[in-house]
Amino acid sequence: LPLVVGVDLGGTQMRTAVLRGATLLSRVSSLTGEQSSPDLVIPRLFQAVEQALEEAKVSLEQIAGIGICAPGPLNYRTGVICAPPNLPEWDQVPMRDIFSERFQVPIFVENDANAAGLGEYMFGAGRGTRHMVYLTISTGIGGGIITDGQILEGTFGTAGELGHMTINWRGERCNCGNIGCLESITSGTAIARHANAAIADGQGDELLAFARAQGQAAPDQSSTTLRVTARTVAEAAEAGIPLACAIIDEAAEALGIGLVNILHIFNPEIVILGGGVAQMGARLLDPAKRLVEERTMRVPREAARIVLAELGPNVGLVGAGALIYHYQNIEK
Ligand code: BGC
Ligand code: NA
Ligand code: ZN
Repeated sequence: LPLVVGVDLGGTQMRTAVLRGATLLSRVSSLTGEQSSPDLVIPRLFQAVEQALEEAKVSLEQIAGIGICAPGPLNYRTGVICAPPNLPEWDQVPMRDIFSERFQVPIFVENDANAAGLGEYMFGAGRGTRHMVYLTISTGIGGGIITDGQILEGTFGTAGELGHMTINWRGERCNCGNIGCLESITSGTAIARHANAAIADGQGDELLAFARAQGQAAPDQSSTTLRVTARTVAEAAEAGIPLACAIIDEAAEALGIGLVNILHIFNPEIVILGGGVAQMGARLLDPAKRLVEERTMRVPREAARIVLAELGPNVGLVGAGALIYHYQNIEK
Protein backbone atom coordinates (compact mmCIF):
# COMPACT_ATOMS: atom_id res chain seq x y z
CA LEU A 1 0.00 0.00 0.00
CA PRO A 2 1.24 3.53 -0.75
CA LEU A 3 2.00 6.09 1.93
CA VAL A 4 -0.79 8.50 2.80
CA VAL A 5 -1.44 11.36 5.23
CA GLY A 6 -4.46 11.25 7.54
CA VAL A 7 -5.92 14.28 9.31
CA ASP A 8 -8.54 13.76 12.01
CA LEU A 9 -10.13 17.06 13.01
CA GLY A 10 -12.26 16.59 16.12
CA GLY A 11 -14.22 18.87 18.43
CA THR A 12 -11.75 17.99 21.20
CA GLN A 13 -8.52 16.84 19.54
CA MET A 14 -6.83 17.10 16.20
CA ARG A 15 -4.42 14.46 14.99
CA THR A 16 -2.28 14.13 11.88
CA ALA A 17 -0.20 11.18 10.74
CA VAL A 18 1.76 9.64 7.93
CA LEU A 19 0.54 6.10 7.43
CA ARG A 20 0.86 3.01 5.36
CA GLY A 21 -2.38 1.09 5.79
CA ALA A 22 -3.01 0.93 9.52
CA THR A 23 0.64 1.53 10.43
CA LEU A 24 1.56 5.00 11.66
CA LEU A 25 5.00 6.30 10.68
CA SER A 26 4.55 9.52 12.63
CA ARG A 27 1.83 11.26 14.58
CA VAL A 28 1.24 14.87 15.59
CA SER A 29 -1.65 15.69 17.90
CA SER A 30 -2.93 18.66 19.85
CA LEU A 31 -6.08 19.84 21.55
CA THR A 32 -8.46 21.69 19.26
CA GLY A 33 -9.03 24.03 22.21
CA GLU A 34 -11.34 26.95 22.72
CA GLN A 35 -9.81 28.73 19.71
CA SER A 36 -11.41 26.42 17.22
CA SER A 37 -12.28 28.81 14.39
CA PRO A 38 -11.09 27.75 10.91
CA ASP A 39 -8.73 30.77 10.63
CA LEU A 40 -6.81 29.55 13.64
CA VAL A 41 -7.06 25.81 13.13
CA ILE A 42 -6.25 25.51 9.41
CA PRO A 43 -2.71 26.97 9.71
CA ARG A 44 -2.12 24.58 12.63
CA LEU A 45 -3.27 21.66 10.47
CA PHE A 46 -0.94 22.72 7.63
CA GLN A 47 1.94 22.79 10.10
CA ALA A 48 0.94 19.44 11.54
CA VAL A 49 0.99 17.86 8.05
CA GLU A 50 4.46 19.26 7.42
CA GLN A 51 5.69 18.14 10.82
CA ALA A 52 4.26 14.64 10.37
CA LEU A 53 5.99 14.33 6.97
CA GLU A 54 9.25 15.55 8.45
CA GLU A 55 9.08 13.16 11.41
CA ALA A 56 8.37 10.25 9.08
CA LYS A 57 11.22 11.46 6.81
CA VAL A 58 8.87 11.45 3.85
CA SER A 59 8.39 14.12 1.20
CA LEU A 60 5.04 15.24 -0.18
CA GLU A 61 5.93 13.63 -3.54
CA GLN A 62 6.03 10.21 -1.88
CA ILE A 63 2.45 10.26 -0.61
CA ALA A 64 -0.62 9.18 -2.57
CA GLY A 65 -2.90 11.77 -0.99
CA ILE A 66 -4.22 13.46 2.12
CA GLY A 67 -7.43 12.20 3.72
CA ILE A 68 -9.21 14.57 6.10
CA CYS A 69 -12.06 13.62 8.38
CA ALA A 70 -14.20 15.98 10.43
CA PRO A 71 -17.56 15.99 12.18
CA GLY A 72 -20.49 16.43 9.82
CA PRO A 73 -22.52 17.64 8.21
CA LEU A 74 -20.09 17.98 5.37
CA ASN A 75 -20.29 17.37 1.65
CA TYR A 76 -17.78 14.71 0.65
CA ARG A 77 -18.21 15.49 -3.06
CA THR A 78 -17.26 19.15 -2.73
CA GLY A 79 -15.19 18.82 0.47
CA VAL A 80 -17.13 21.62 2.16
CA ILE A 81 -17.76 21.51 5.94
CA CYS A 82 -21.24 22.84 6.82
CA ALA A 83 -21.51 23.97 10.50
CA PRO A 84 -21.23 20.71 12.46
CA PRO A 85 -23.02 20.77 15.86
CA ASN A 86 -19.64 20.33 17.55
CA LEU A 87 -17.67 22.78 15.37
CA PRO A 88 -20.27 25.50 14.82
CA GLU A 89 -17.80 28.09 13.54
CA TRP A 90 -16.96 25.87 10.57
CA ASP A 91 -19.75 27.11 8.35
CA GLN A 92 -19.29 26.52 4.59
CA VAL A 93 -15.53 25.94 4.84
CA PRO A 94 -14.16 24.58 1.52
CA MET A 95 -11.69 22.26 3.21
CA ARG A 96 -10.69 20.32 0.12
CA ASP A 97 -9.91 23.43 -1.94
CA ILE A 98 -8.02 25.04 0.93
CA PHE A 99 -5.83 21.95 1.30
CA SER A 100 -5.42 21.49 -2.47
CA GLU A 101 -3.96 24.97 -2.77
CA ARG A 102 -1.32 24.21 -0.18
CA PHE A 103 -0.53 20.56 -0.98
CA GLN A 104 -0.55 19.41 -4.62
CA VAL A 105 -1.72 15.85 -4.00
CA PRO A 106 -5.21 14.28 -4.11
CA ILE A 107 -7.29 15.45 -1.13
CA PHE A 108 -10.37 13.66 0.21
CA VAL A 109 -12.71 15.01 2.88
CA GLU A 110 -15.12 12.72 4.69
CA ASN A 111 -17.30 12.58 7.78
CA ASP A 112 -15.23 11.40 10.77
CA ALA A 113 -17.46 8.43 11.59
CA ASN A 114 -17.67 7.35 7.94
CA ALA A 115 -13.88 7.47 7.74
CA ALA A 116 -13.39 5.64 11.04
CA GLY A 117 -15.90 3.03 9.91
CA LEU A 118 -13.94 2.58 6.71
CA GLY A 119 -10.77 2.18 8.78
CA GLU A 120 -12.35 -0.59 10.86
CA TYR A 121 -13.76 -2.16 7.69
CA MET A 122 -10.39 -2.30 5.93
CA PHE A 123 -8.04 -2.88 8.86
CA GLY A 124 -9.98 -3.58 12.07
CA ALA A 125 -12.96 -5.45 13.46
CA GLY A 126 -14.93 -5.18 10.21
CA ARG A 127 -12.44 -7.04 8.00
CA GLY A 128 -14.13 -9.65 5.85
CA THR A 129 -17.66 -8.30 6.34
CA ARG A 130 -19.89 -6.67 3.69
CA HIS A 131 -22.56 -5.00 5.86
CA MET A 132 -21.24 -3.11 8.80
CA VAL A 133 -22.26 -0.24 11.05
CA TYR A 134 -19.71 1.78 12.97
CA LEU A 135 -20.88 3.96 15.84
CA THR A 136 -18.51 6.39 17.51
CA ILE A 137 -19.46 7.61 20.98
CA SER A 138 -17.22 10.55 21.85
CA THR A 139 -17.69 14.33 22.04
CA GLY A 140 -20.54 13.70 19.61
CA ILE A 141 -22.03 10.47 18.32
CA GLY A 142 -21.55 9.56 14.69
CA GLY A 143 -22.26 6.65 12.40
CA GLY A 144 -20.48 5.10 9.46
CA ILE A 145 -22.50 2.62 7.44
CA ILE A 146 -20.89 0.23 5.01
CA THR A 147 -23.40 -1.50 2.84
CA ASP A 148 -22.22 -4.10 0.36
CA GLY A 149 -18.67 -2.81 0.75
CA GLN A 150 -19.50 0.84 0.05
CA ILE A 151 -19.86 3.79 2.42
CA LEU A 152 -23.52 4.81 2.48
CA GLU A 153 -23.29 8.51 1.57
CA GLY A 154 -26.78 9.65 0.65
CA THR A 155 -27.17 12.66 -1.62
CA PHE A 156 -24.52 14.91 -0.09
CA GLY A 157 -22.67 12.56 2.22
CA THR A 158 -24.66 13.12 5.37
CA ALA A 159 -26.32 9.70 5.48
CA GLY A 160 -25.59 7.78 8.65
CA GLU A 161 -25.92 10.59 11.19
CA LEU A 162 -26.80 7.92 13.74
CA GLY A 163 -26.08 10.18 16.71
CA HIS A 164 -28.99 12.35 15.70
CA MET A 165 -31.60 9.62 15.62
CA THR A 166 -34.41 10.56 17.97
CA ILE A 167 -34.52 8.39 21.09
CA ASN A 168 -36.71 10.53 23.35
CA TRP A 169 -38.98 12.82 21.40
CA ARG A 170 -39.93 14.66 24.57
CA GLY A 171 -36.32 14.99 25.65
CA GLU A 172 -33.68 17.72 25.66
CA ARG A 173 -32.74 19.93 22.74
CA CYS A 174 -29.64 18.64 20.93
CA ASN A 175 -26.91 20.90 19.48
CA CYS A 176 -28.24 19.95 16.04
CA GLY A 177 -31.64 21.51 16.75
CA ASN A 178 -33.56 18.24 17.06
CA ILE A 179 -34.94 16.96 20.37
CA GLY A 180 -33.87 13.87 22.29
CA CYS A 181 -31.11 12.68 19.94
CA LEU A 182 -28.92 9.74 21.00
CA GLU A 183 -26.06 12.27 21.13
CA SER A 184 -27.96 14.41 23.65
CA ILE A 185 -28.10 11.44 26.07
CA THR A 186 -25.12 9.16 25.49
CA SER A 187 -22.24 11.35 24.18
CA GLY A 188 -19.37 12.30 26.46
CA THR A 189 -20.61 15.87 26.32
CA ALA A 190 -24.10 14.82 27.44
CA ILE A 191 -22.82 12.62 30.28
CA ALA A 192 -20.69 15.49 31.62
CA ARG A 193 -23.50 17.99 31.13
CA HIS A 194 -25.97 15.86 33.07
CA ALA A 195 -23.51 15.41 35.93
CA ASN A 196 -22.62 19.09 36.07
CA ALA A 197 -26.28 20.10 36.02
CA ALA A 198 -26.93 17.83 39.00
CA ILE A 199 -23.91 19.30 40.79
CA ALA A 200 -25.17 22.83 40.13
CA ASP A 201 -28.50 21.67 41.57
CA GLY A 202 -26.82 20.62 44.78
CA GLN A 203 -27.25 16.86 44.14
CA GLY A 204 -23.65 16.07 43.37
CA ASP A 205 -21.79 16.12 46.71
CA GLU A 206 -20.79 12.47 46.62
CA LEU A 207 -19.75 12.66 42.97
CA LEU A 208 -17.74 15.83 43.60
CA ALA A 209 -16.01 14.27 46.60
CA PHE A 210 -15.09 11.30 44.40
CA ALA A 211 -13.81 13.60 41.65
CA ARG A 212 -11.74 15.63 44.13
CA ALA A 213 -10.24 12.51 45.63
CA GLN A 214 -9.12 11.52 42.11
CA GLY A 215 -7.81 15.03 41.43
CA GLN A 216 -10.42 15.28 38.68
CA ALA A 217 -12.64 18.19 39.60
CA ALA A 218 -11.61 21.32 37.73
CA PRO A 219 -13.08 24.80 37.99
CA ASP A 220 -14.95 25.94 34.95
CA GLN A 221 -13.59 28.73 32.72
CA SER A 222 -16.08 31.35 33.74
CA SER A 223 -16.62 30.68 37.43
CA THR A 224 -15.29 28.88 40.44
CA THR A 225 -17.83 26.07 40.12
CA LEU A 226 -16.16 22.68 39.96
CA ARG A 227 -16.91 20.59 36.93
CA VAL A 228 -16.44 16.92 36.16
CA THR A 229 -15.79 15.11 32.89
CA ALA A 230 -17.54 12.10 31.37
CA ARG A 231 -14.54 9.97 32.30
CA THR A 232 -14.98 10.85 35.97
CA VAL A 233 -18.68 10.04 35.79
CA ALA A 234 -17.82 6.65 34.26
CA GLU A 235 -15.30 5.91 37.01
CA ALA A 236 -17.74 7.04 39.68
CA ALA A 237 -20.38 4.71 38.22
CA GLU A 238 -17.90 1.81 38.46
CA ALA A 239 -17.42 2.82 42.10
CA GLY A 240 -21.20 2.66 42.63
CA ILE A 241 -21.95 6.34 43.23
CA PRO A 242 -25.73 6.58 42.69
CA LEU A 243 -25.87 9.83 40.67
CA ALA A 244 -23.17 8.55 38.30
CA CYS A 245 -24.90 5.15 38.02
CA ALA A 246 -28.17 6.82 37.08
CA ILE A 247 -26.52 8.95 34.38
CA ILE A 248 -24.64 6.02 32.87
CA ASP A 249 -27.70 3.75 33.06
CA GLU A 250 -29.68 6.33 31.13
CA ALA A 251 -26.90 6.64 28.55
CA ALA A 252 -26.77 2.84 28.22
CA GLU A 253 -30.54 2.57 27.82
CA ALA A 254 -30.54 5.17 25.05
CA LEU A 255 -27.65 3.35 23.38
CA GLY A 256 -29.57 0.08 23.56
CA ILE A 257 -32.60 1.63 21.87
CA GLY A 258 -30.33 3.15 19.25
CA LEU A 259 -28.82 -0.26 18.56
CA VAL A 260 -32.25 -1.86 18.21
CA ASN A 261 -33.09 0.79 15.59
CA ILE A 262 -29.78 0.21 13.82
CA LEU A 263 -30.31 -3.57 13.63
CA HIS A 264 -33.86 -3.14 12.38
CA ILE A 265 -32.91 -0.62 9.69
CA PHE A 266 -29.61 -2.02 8.40
CA ASN A 267 -29.50 -5.75 9.29
CA PRO A 268 -25.69 -5.56 9.63
CA GLU A 269 -23.34 -8.48 10.22
CA ILE A 270 -21.47 -6.43 12.76
CA VAL A 271 -21.88 -3.24 14.76
CA ILE A 272 -18.56 -1.76 15.86
CA LEU A 273 -18.51 0.67 18.77
CA GLY A 274 -15.66 3.18 18.95
CA GLY A 275 -14.83 6.48 20.63
CA GLY A 276 -13.73 7.34 24.13
CA VAL A 277 -17.10 6.69 25.81
CA ALA A 278 -17.36 3.17 24.33
CA GLN A 279 -14.05 2.39 26.04
CA MET A 280 -16.02 2.39 29.29
CA GLY A 281 -16.86 -1.18 28.27
CA ALA A 282 -19.26 -3.45 30.16
CA ARG A 283 -20.74 -0.77 32.47
CA LEU A 284 -22.23 0.90 29.39
CA LEU A 285 -22.47 -1.97 26.93
CA ASP A 286 -23.99 -4.76 29.00
CA PRO A 287 -27.27 -2.97 29.78
CA ALA A 288 -27.42 -1.76 26.17
CA LYS A 289 -26.94 -5.30 24.85
CA ARG A 290 -29.65 -6.60 27.21
CA LEU A 291 -32.10 -4.19 25.60
CA VAL A 292 -31.02 -5.36 22.18
CA GLU A 293 -31.72 -8.97 23.21
CA GLU A 294 -35.16 -8.05 24.55
CA ARG A 295 -36.37 -5.79 21.79
CA THR A 296 -34.83 -6.65 18.41
CA MET A 297 -36.57 -8.93 15.94
CA ARG A 298 -34.96 -12.34 15.97
CA VAL A 299 -33.46 -12.45 12.47
CA PRO A 300 -31.56 -9.14 12.56
CA ARG A 301 -30.61 -9.79 16.18
CA GLU A 302 -29.08 -13.16 15.43
CA ALA A 303 -27.28 -11.80 12.36
CA ALA A 304 -25.34 -9.11 14.22
CA ARG A 305 -22.33 -9.18 16.47
CA ILE A 306 -21.81 -6.03 18.59
CA VAL A 307 -18.11 -5.49 19.29
CA LEU A 308 -15.62 -2.82 20.28
CA ALA A 309 -13.44 -1.12 17.67
CA GLU A 310 -9.97 -2.59 17.22
CA LEU A 311 -8.03 0.46 16.06
CA GLY A 312 -8.33 2.43 19.32
CA PRO A 313 -7.62 6.16 19.43
CA ASN A 314 -5.99 6.09 15.97
CA VAL A 315 -9.15 4.88 14.24
CA GLY A 316 -9.92 8.33 12.81
CA LEU A 317 -6.40 8.70 11.41
CA VAL A 318 -6.35 5.24 9.90
CA GLY A 319 -9.79 5.90 8.43
CA ALA A 320 -8.76 9.28 7.04
CA GLY A 321 -5.78 7.66 5.31
CA ALA A 322 -7.96 4.77 4.10
CA LEU A 323 -10.12 7.26 2.18
CA ILE A 324 -7.34 7.48 -0.39
CA TYR A 325 -7.25 3.71 -0.87
CA HIS A 326 -11.03 3.50 -0.98
CA TYR A 327 -11.74 6.33 -3.40
CA GLN A 328 -8.78 5.56 -5.65
CA ASN A 329 -9.54 1.81 -5.71
CA ILE A 330 -6.13 0.90 -4.33
CA GLU A 331 -6.26 -2.73 -3.20
CA LYS A 332 -4.33 -4.29 -0.36
C1 BGC B 1 -21.91 14.86 14.02
C2 BGC B 1 -21.41 13.69 13.19
C3 BGC B 1 -20.09 13.20 13.73
C4 BGC B 1 -20.18 12.92 15.21
C5 BGC B 1 -18.84 12.53 15.81
C6 BGC B 1 -21.95 14.45 15.45
O1 BGC B 1 -22.41 15.53 16.22
O2 BGC B 1 -23.19 15.25 13.59
O3 BGC B 1 -21.26 14.04 11.84
O4 BGC B 1 -19.72 12.02 13.03
O5 BGC B 1 -20.67 14.04 15.89
O6 BGC B 1 -17.91 13.54 15.69
NA1 NA C 1 -21.56 9.48 9.32
ZN1 ZN D 1 -28.95 15.91 17.39
